[in-house]
Amino acid sequence: MSDLNTEINRRRTFAIISHPDAGKTTLTEKFLLYGGAINLAGSVKGRKAAKHAVSDWMEIEKERGISVTSSVMQFEYNGMCINILDTPGHQDFSEDTYRTLMAADSAVMVIDGSKGVEAQTIKLFKVCVMRHIPIFTFINKMDREANDPFDLIDEIENVLGIHTCPINWPIGSGKSFKGVYDRKSGVISRFIQGDNGHRAEVIETSLDAPDIESVITKELYDKLSEDSELLDGASDEFDLEKVRAGELSPVFFGSALTNFGVEIFLRHFLEMTTPPLPRKSNEGIIDPFGNDFSAFVFKIQANMNKAHRDRIAFMRICSGKFEAGKEVYHVQGEKKLRLTQPQQMMAEERKHVEEAYAGDIIGVFDPGIFAIGDTICAPGKKFCYEGIPTFAPEHFARIRQVDTMKRKQFIKGIEQIALEGAVQIFQEYNTGMEEIIVGVVGVLQFEVLEYRLANEYRVEIRLEQLPYEHIRWIENEDIYIDRLSVTSDTKKVKDMHGRPLLLFTHPWSVGTVLDRNEGLVLTEFGK
Ligand code: G4P
Repeated sequence: MSDLNTEINRRRTFAIISHPDAGKTTLTEKFLLYGGAINLAGSVKGRKAAKHAVSDWMEIEKERGISVTSSVMQFEYNGMCINILDTPGHQDFSEDTYRTLMAADSAVMVIDGSKGVEAQTIKLFKVCVMRHIPIFTFINKMDREANDPFDLIDEIENVLGIHTCPINWPIGSGKSFKGVYDRKSGVISRFIQGDNGHRAEVIETSLDAPDIESVITKELYDKLSEDSELLDGASDEFDLEKVRAGELSPVFFGSALTNFGVEIFLRHFLEMTTPPLPRKSNEGIIDPFGNDFSAFVFKIQANMNKAHRDRIAFMRICSGKFEAGKEVYHVQGEKKLRLTQPQQMMAEERKHVEEAYAGDIIGVFDPGIFAIGDTICAPGKKFCYEGIPTFAPEHFARIRQVDTMKRKQFIKGIEQIALEGAVQIFQEYNTGMEEIIVGVVGVLQFEVLEYRLANEYRVEIRLEQLPYEHIRWIENEDIYIDRLSVTSDTKKVKDMHGRPLLLFTHPWSVGTVLDRNEGLVLTEFGK
């Protein structure tokens, strides 16, 4: 096998997704610990004091205890090179999660065993199901009193609409948590709480071991035998093809905090996932093992670090090998260029990269030329990867700068944040840029916008929420916007590219406006 093949073959790229507080950060830290990527993984506990988990780098995330934007981490384990894409833990950022999922080949969904599928997160998980990528479930916090595992499984199946296949099964929970039972091998990995409460030892035994009753109580033994029989009869059979098609989610139980079940999960996960898969382009399927480099931009982020006031475009390499300094072709910009300052991110730390392979994520300095969804190819190639859909905003607000002397910073800031895809901006007819209408998918994004404008651009704004909830672009090229007959609760605005659109308060107004204006064509997504 050539070097290129070997390198790509050992790549695994996944996104990690959870409701806030389910344990995503803790689990990520334990993964990184296995790879030796960070020295101290047990630091999450002390987080409230001073130490912050490595993947939480934005002030607002620290203050609110939620992940706002996603970061990327890489680690090595058992000869594999693994890329983890962290995702925001709140449904208001589900669009960001969707984009991140576009860059991943699979997803790990972390669920708190005592809470099950949480209402707020349903939207996020559905976004995951929409992408049809393999989803692996890690049911966490089994060292705390958890819900009945059958109820947890049922909930995942019913609420998220995905079939499940438990790979292991918990023996008790909370104070009586004894470990997990591997359904295929019959091996029990025992959970033994360490002295400091932060370590769990794994000792293997099996259900037919002669001393089993000294390990687990008779009651737990009987329950496990019963559960196991029930599972064999009732649950979906393991089917790797279905897992890879995103139709069946393998389920694991464990406790990230005490590092129990994490390595078991990682081992199975690596066996079940594939190296980077071929991706669709407008010129057909692109083979990741091909010699030519190609990538697409899935995220743009400005001012990630105050020490580096710059704009970074994150790209997922889809084929071949990236070599720093080599010329590439930016398809949408129709230009040859060299990607400057290519780097891999490790939360706040940045590492210069000389080479990277299909499956890897690199961040490059963006002088303002890239947009989300853009394709970068080897010179001579001109194909585009499938675009990344934009979600229609559901909340709108009018924003105004408080200090009119800061007009330049205000416009720069708001345009920059809009280019990152965090908000969409619109303008009313007959008003200047001092008043802008902002549309977002989730209201928390208003907060992020306010915070970022104040912190990164030193602009204070006043934000007034508007009652609109539905958006339609006007497709007709030859429309006189003034002559359009709309309902009193409809607003006429234009987007960043000057395209006209309408904002509606009620869904039924869409129909009324269509009835009143013959030939009018409205679409839900701007091009
Ligand atoms: P997130 O990224 O999904 O938001 O969750 P994070 O890892 O930050 O974990 C949230 C809290 O849950 C943390 O507690 C963490 O220590 C705890 N936790 C994570 N995994 C486990 C586990 O397996 N067992 C137990 N018992 N706890 C776990 P914290 O921030 O210190 O605050 P608190 O909520 O404990 O007060």
